[in-house]
Amino acid sequence: MPPLSAEGLAAGFIPDFGAELGDEDAIPRYVTNVHPGPRQAQRRAAPAVRPLEILAPSTESLRALESLQAAIDESFPLQAKHRDSLRGDIRQLWEELTSDREYRSVDYLGTPPALSAYLRYFLPWNVFRLASILSNADFCLPDNAVIIDIGSGPLTLPIALWASRPELRDVPLTIYCMDRVERALEAGKAIFETFCLRAEGRLPPWRIELRKESFGGSLPERAHLLTSANVFNEFFWKDRAPLGERALATARSLLGYLRADGSLFIMEPGDPRSGAFISALRAALLAEGAAPLGPCPHALSCPMPGIFRHLLPPEETRVAKGDPNAAPSRFVLPPVAMPKKRDKFPWCHFGIDASKAPAWLEAVSAEAGLPKERAVLSYIWAARGASARPAVGIPDPLRSSERERRAKASKGILVRVVSEPFALPDGSAGQYACSSLGYTLVKRPRGEAPFESGALLEVTAAPLPRNDEKSGAIVLPS
Ligand SMILES: C[S@@+](CC[C@H](N)C(=O)[O-])C[C@H]1O[C@@H](n2cnc3c(N)ncnc32)[C@H](O)[C@@H]1O
Repeated sequence: MPPLSAEGLAAGFIPDFGAELGDEDAIPRYVTNVHPGPRQAQRRAAPAVRPLEILAPSTESLRALESLQAAIDESFPLQAKHRDSLRGDIRQLWEELTSDREYRSVDYLGTPPALSAYLRYFLPWNVFRLASILSNADFCLPDNAVIIDIGSGPLTLPIALWASRPELRDVPLTIYCMDRVERALEAGKAIFETFCLRAEGRLPPWRIELRKESFGGSLPERAHLLTSANVFNEFFWKDRAPLGERALATARSLLGYLRADGSLFIMEPGDPRSGAFISALRAALLAEGAAPLGPCPHALSCPMPGIFRHLLPPEETRVAKGDPNAAPSRFVLPPVAMPKKRDKFPWCHFGIDASKAPAWLEAVSAEAGLPKERAVLSYIWAARGASARPAVGIPDPLRSSERERRAKASKGILVRVVSEPFALPDGSAGQYACSSLGYTLVKRPRGEAPFESGALLEVTAAPLPRNDEKSGAIVLPS
């Protein structure tokens, strides 16, 4: 096997194993779109695409989700007086949670109608969203691992983890579930236990520690895995300091809960503001030594940062480095191709096909007047120390130009599909994506099935010489 180049891996390139293998082996069997013709010509002309990862709940997690409604009803029965108002309560809470309020009242889950609405609509949809990531994410936990879940609410993340990762059901874990609202934690623990018993007839060897505590409060241990779902949008924007500064402060607080070789996973609702938060947090985590594992297929600048621009103003960046001529510093990531100049850049978010959700959840949603086609989310996995895989390493030594990266791309590049497909003027289909080249338009020949939003691909095809005129994206045939 050829040596892996740290720079290439950091930039998301696939190692060229074929160069050392025999010619036969150099053509991967997963090559698609192979047209008839001489073999040599095929090898040069046919774009090769290998799907590496999808973003969808596993069959096992969907099977487990079937039991969730009964577990909620059993452990948190709906009082008769709340039954008739449930639809309205769900609707009201939905309006509150999706409004652009800069922060919410501290105890919005503290009243029985709101908590009941949360448990019956938001909890299961968030389990569905989380299961789409956790089912496929490439992570493993040692025996006796410590997980800290910030803003755990009704234990949505432990429920999703149990549903999505059957192999962890026999592993002893300690999970600190931290939230400022005790009532939500207690309801969640009862639901979690009833859910496991209903779905599998036994509880996992997980020690679940409920902590009524706010983000920043202390815990007795540091985590192998730190998680948080749908929490930062509740208070992050309250602070008026510049976005980059707040992201750095948040990254430092998060890393304060994490072991030196731990990983962290943050999911947010997928609205424009949350997308910008995730992009800013990614840059801040990189500056603090934690590299992105996903969805990012590289550790260069983010080409879909929404309103996020930089961690620190350029002057401060230079001062922070102590050398006015030394750029890029750890606060400035190597640039990539960006979307055409506009007020706000697109933000990184994914839409999971909601038709895969259990019928009971679709029925609850339809009754509340909130039918869902796609469950939208933004997220980031990051890690430091031994958990940071080289494929996304720290990009410090990366100084390759876009031209060099384009040349390397024809040997294999990681691409994360972000958008839904749309028609291009020539009849082919396009999907916006992220790659180490930057903002990328994956072009699919007419008649080929599109990719799912969130799919991670290995693409072996040279980018077209010209960027897409409308969007500015690098065009990658697939
Ligand atoms: C939208 S709920 C998310 C709950 C759960 N993680 C989920 O995905 O369903 C947000 C949770 O964050 C909690 N929360 C908000 N601000 C917090 C803070 N500063 N510290 C701890 N928990 C907080 C709220 O009490 C609430 O339970």
